[in-house]
Amino acid sequence: MKWKDVDYTPYTSTIALAPEEESLRQEDFIQKAAAVVREMSEKAGRVPTACVVTFGCQMNARDSEKLCGILSRAGYMLTEDEEADLVIYNTCTVRDNANQRVYGRLGHLNAMKKQNPSKKIALCGCMVQEVQVIDKIKKSYSFVDLIFGTHNIYKFPELLYMMLTSDKMIIDVWKDTSSIVEDLPVERKYPFKSGVNIMFGCDKFCTYCIVPYVRGRERSRDPKEILRECEKLAADGVSEVMLLGQNVDSYGKGLEGGVNFPGLLREVEKIDGIRRIRFMTSHPRDLSDELIELMAGSEKICRHLHLPVQSGSSRILKAMNRGYTRESYLELIGRLKAAMPDLAITTDIIVGFPGETMEDIDETISLVKEVGYDNAFTFIYSPRTGTPAADMPRSMSDEEIKEGFDKLLKVVQDTAKLSVAKYAGRVEEALVEGLNDHDPEMVTGRLSNNLLVHFKGGADLAGSYVKVKLLENKGFYYIGEML
Ligand code: 5AD
Ligand code: SF4
Repeated sequence: MKWKDVDYTPYTSTIALAPEEESLRQEDFIQKAAAVVREMSEKAGRVPTACVVTFGCQMNARDSEKLCGILSRAGYMLTEDEEADLVIYNTCTVRDNANQRVYGRLGHLNAMKKQNPSKKIALCGCMVQEVQVIDKIKKSYSFVDLIFGTHNIYKFPELLYMMLTSDKMIIDVWKDTSSIVEDLPVERKYPFKSGVNIMFGCDKFCTYCIVPYVRGRERSRDPKEILRECEKLAADGVSEVMLLGQNVDSYGKGLEGGVNFPGLLREVEKIDGIRRIRFMTSHPRDLSDELIELMAGSEKICRHLHLPVQSGSSRILKAMNRGYTRESYLELIGRLKAAMPDLAITTDIIVGFPGETMEDIDETISLVKEVGYDNAFTFIYSPRTGTPAADMPRSMSDEEIKEGFDKLLKVVQDTAKLSVAKYAGRVEEALVEGLNDHDPEMVTGRLSNNLLVHFKGGADLAGSYVKVKLLENKGFYYIGEML
């Protein structure tokens, strides 16, 4: 059966069935897609391959695991080779260079498709939530077979089936949703660690950020569902979970029963088999004393906090709508360090925000030195269509911004080296993640504070916790020795 061309109707649909019924309906489409994939296998004399490429953040990485889970169930063999019969780009649009990379790589996929006309190409994720992106794809990248957004990823089985039985470009992108559909199959990248979504969307509306527009309003998952997922993961051999949300500290808003983020963490801590708990991302405005106290007393919550500061200038923070000042951020850092002297702190920083001057960047540099971050991710401001900052006048030239950025980067690197140096000689517990990419005689382990350590060992250690002595500081990682 061929499906009719699906009209481009972005920003209309919303979930019609109850989430439980919807998940059964999608299960049905997995079976239907599997029948088509079986037919393809028989015809070609081999199992069709699928490749999911993830751009952007941990939330996207987790979404990709859901896509892989569905593809596996439908009978595809997963590969990392983009020559695959089906390639899905799970895109990011936080900065324009992420978009440009996707457009560039789509050109290569088109060349491959010319060699193999039955190749299918799909796009999903944040980038396609922007109307102008869809228009551009329709006009200049008409070889794309399927486009779907961030809100209806649970509908992927249905969309996959439609794509496999149609020659037309299928587009299904929603503006927003209030629903959360549970129980999608997942194919985890690691057997021993996993991300767990605890909330979706963001209500903070930082003036530079497109996330609230492409990921929608903040919605927290029911704590019972989160705990059920964590318990299932633990039973399946997962010992480290990373609780994921754009702003985990405001978890629970709008849910019945008054659960908050520390309350959720306390419940996750009780699960046997879960040895490490991480979370991402925190917001300085919402991080509570209750959370600090809980972390300080916890055996399971890791000694790492990613706390984006974005700028060290109160004037710029105000223009960014961050809801805190340089002083209140530093005061929060003081409370964190007093409670947990061994806490590793990392951050995100934007340079070149509209109205920013070299004096503001100098304030950021002085804040970086004062906090002594273990690492900082630095970004050049990228105007995003539809955000308030995109209309604000800029005050520095590209050259000046680059100069400020390089100055900051040097300080960030020097500070990180100093922070990391203090771990030299320590014996720490590492969770072995697998063989080292560059040296097959070595494995890579992650410490509670998120630092990586490479040491001699074999693939059989993957997933185990071992004691490692940190010997040689390589800047952002260590060479160590297993005891
Ligand atoms: N330009 C540059 N960096 C941005 N970020 C978010 N939006 C933008 C933008 N428009 C950065 C912030 C955020 C990280 C995920 O990406 O630092 O914390
Ligand atoms: Fe974007 Fe701000 Fe929300 Fe983070 S908190 S996702 S930077 S709007």
